[in-house]
Amino acid sequence: MDDQLASSLGSLKCYWLEPADIMSKTAELKLEGKTYQLPVIEGSEKEQGIDISSLRSQTGHITIDDGYGNTGSCRSAITFIDGEKGILRYRGIPIEELADKSSFVEVAYLLIWGKLPTSEELRKFSELFTENELLHESMKHHFEGFPASAHPMAILSSMINATSCFYPELLSSDVKGHFKLDAVRLISQVRTIAAFAHRKSRGLPIIYPKPEYKYTANFLHMLFSVPYRDYELKPEVVRALDLIFLLHADHEQNCSTSTVRMVASSKANLFASAAAGVCALWGPLHGGANQAVLEMLDEIHQSGDDGSKFINAAKDKNSGKKLMGFGHRVYKNHDPRAKIIKKACDEVLEKLQVDDPLLSIAKKLEEAALKESYFVERKLYPNVDFYSGIIMRALGIPVEMFTVIFAIGRMPGWIANYKEVMEEPTRIYRPRQIYTGPTLNPYIPIKNRL
Ligand code: CMC
Repeated sequence: MDDQLASSLGSLKCYWLEPADIMSKTAELKLEGKTYQLPVIEGSEKEQGIDISSLRSQTGHITIDDGYGNTGSCRSAITFIDGEKGILRYRGIPIEELADKSSFVEVAYLLIWGKLPTSEELRKFSELFTENELLHESMKHHFEGFPASAHPMAILSSMINATSCFYPELLSSDVKGHFKLDAVRLISQVRTIAAFAHRKSRGLPIIYPKPEYKYTANFLHMLFSVPYRDYELKPEVVRALDLIFLLHADHEQNCSTSTVRMVASSKANLFASAAAGVCALWGPLHGGANQAVLEMLDEIHQSGDDGSKFINAAKDKNSGKKLMGFGHRVYKNHDPRAKIIKKACDEVLEKLQVDDPLLSIAKKLEEAALKESYFVERKLYPNVDFYSGIIMRALGIPVEMFTVIFAIGRMPGWIANYKEVMEEPTRIYRPRQIYTGPTLNPYIPIKNRL
């Protein structure tokens, strides 16, 4: 930065405060001839953040940060990501270990309550899902109101919000009194809503949950059974879907989780906050990418391209194409979830004896992209969505349900974040802006307007 630019923007540098025994780090900001001290806070993994909460009151300035790429919006003890090293941990436990040894329900407990459950705690937690799996019967009428073509994400967010209408106690501000029940109801009923949404979109009769089935098996049952014959629950299918839920369970301050926290900061109820999270997740740059990846692979397959034409288009900013399932705001290395999913994808397809041409296209695309300087220089690697759709397709899940599956998986993460917002003395989230519109502008009566 040249001197002129530095003085107009102000300069910021970090140093250790003397005397050394205090060892509290402070950032020094020089702005318009004055020097300001800003505390530097450190996380448990030694990440550093400059605390600018007093910046505006001290200097009259705010910070501006496009897409919040450098903004820490909160302190959180739930999930740790090191994007440079490709590390993801839930409550300190590496995702690889959880994927190998745990289950979605156990991970939900871990995320929300901050520790692994004992076997008794896990049994009770699991039982609560069974006890709360049924929607209020009147909610069935709401499903009737949607057209058959409705996207299940639209139904999901609407119906999650509608659920709160059946539990008026949710609206009380004493969250502590009912948080546990709300959380359990939400995790359990989101899968019932999701399955009903799918049945509705296909004109199929609704299948009620069965208390003898565990979480993921029950979802598959509601999705695929018919009134006269139960769906055959293959253990490899149940395990594969459970793994997908588990891998999506939390991912720190992504777009949808930040949305949930933002809504929660206004003291909105858990169901309203989660419904907002579903809407944020729907976009193709976020959770909607899993559907977009499958559509992209299908387009490549249909056009007879081996992937090279598509890669060239993805490199061209004017083509309107992106390599969906590639790139991540935080990971500048392999997304650890993508590695796990790729391996699971190979295993599941082999076990189910599915030969999917889209899998070989995906592998060729990945191999080719990782050799291209465009992707290498920008550190663009496959993310969680690149292979998850191929597994879901092999399990018979329709493409429009892919993002719904992501939402079911992400629910414990949203709930854990909601809990943090409610438990911490959080101020309402209210960012500022740099106004770029017209300055004082008189009102012109309609007859005088050109
Ligand atoms: N294909 C082609 N170019 C890309 C891609 C891609 N998938 N992703 C990023 N780039 C380019 C981008 O155009 C930019 O180029 P330049 O520096 O020349 O302007 C550079 O790489 C940096 O990208 P960015 O857009 O600044 O990155 P971001 O952090 O704002 O966006 C992202 C991250 C995930 C939205 C983006 O990589 C993307 O759109 N990927 C495709 C959609 C996708 O797979 N989303 C799922 C994300 S993982 C699951 C989740 O958490 O939801």
